Amino acid sequence: MAASHRRRVGVLISGRGSNMASLIEAAAHPTYPAEIVVVISNRPEAGGLARAAAAGIPTIVVDHTAHADREAFERELHAALVAHRAELVCLAGFMRLLTPWLIGNWEGRMLNIHPSLLPLFKGLHTHRRALEAGVRIHGCTVHYVVPEVDSGPIIAQAAVPVLPNDTEEALAARVLRQEHALYPLALSLVAQGRVRLADGRVRLEGAWDEGSALIAPRPAARER
Ligand code: GRF
Repeated sequence: MAASHRRRVGVLISGRGSNMASLIEAAAHPTYPAEIVVVISNRPEAGGLARAAAAGIPTIVVDHTAHADREAFERELHAALVAHRAELVCLAGFMRLLTPWLIGNWEGRMLNIHPSLLPLFKGLHTHRRALEAGVRIHGCTVHYVVPEVDSGPIIAQAAVPVLPNDTEEALAARVLRQEHALYPLALSLVAQGRVRLADGRVRLEGAWDEGSALIAPRPAARER
C-alpha cells in the first residue's frame, strides 16, 4: 500500500500506553496500512505521552479536569482529532466514558481494546472477575465503540488459558501480551477495509483458517 493511502489514526490514552506503543511500533513498518498521527491523553501525567513523543508522534493533553463539563472536554478532544485529520480513533486504556455525541461523530471509525472476552466481564477489574468466576479461558477483545460501554461489534479476540495458581497480576500480564498483538492486527484489518459492519455485527473479508483450538487445561500427552 502506498504511504499516501495509510489511514490516519488518533490514539486516546489515560495511562502507561503500552497498547498505544504496540500500535506505534506496528505502524512504523512502511507496509502497515495505518499511521499514528496524534496521541491525546486526558491526563497530563500519563506515562504514554513520553513514549509517544520519543517515537516522534505529536502529543496533546486534553485535561478533563480543566473543562467545565463533559461536553466542553469532548468538543476539544474532537477538535484535536479533526485538526490532525484523523480518520480512525483507537482508544487504548482511555479511562473516560464518552457521550453519544462524540461516539456518534466517529461511528464505525472508533475502536477500543477491552481486557476480556466480550460480552463477558464488561467494565473494570476484568481479570479479578475472571478468576472469581473460575473461567478456564480468558482474553481480550477489539471492538467498535458504541454508546453502551464495552458493547460494540466485535472485530477480533485473543484467548489465553487461566492457570491454577494465577494471580490477578499474572493473568493481566498474560492477557496484555496478547493485547499487544491483537490491537495492531485489528487496526490493520480495519484500515485495509476488510471489516464491514452489517446489522450491528462485523463481517470480515478475506480468507481465514481455523487456527488451533485453545483447550484449558491442555490435556497431557497421555490423556489425548
Ligand atoms: C489495557 O489492559 C486495556 O485493555 C485496558 O486498559 C489497559 C491499558 O493499558 N482498556 P495500557 O495503557 O495500554 O498499557
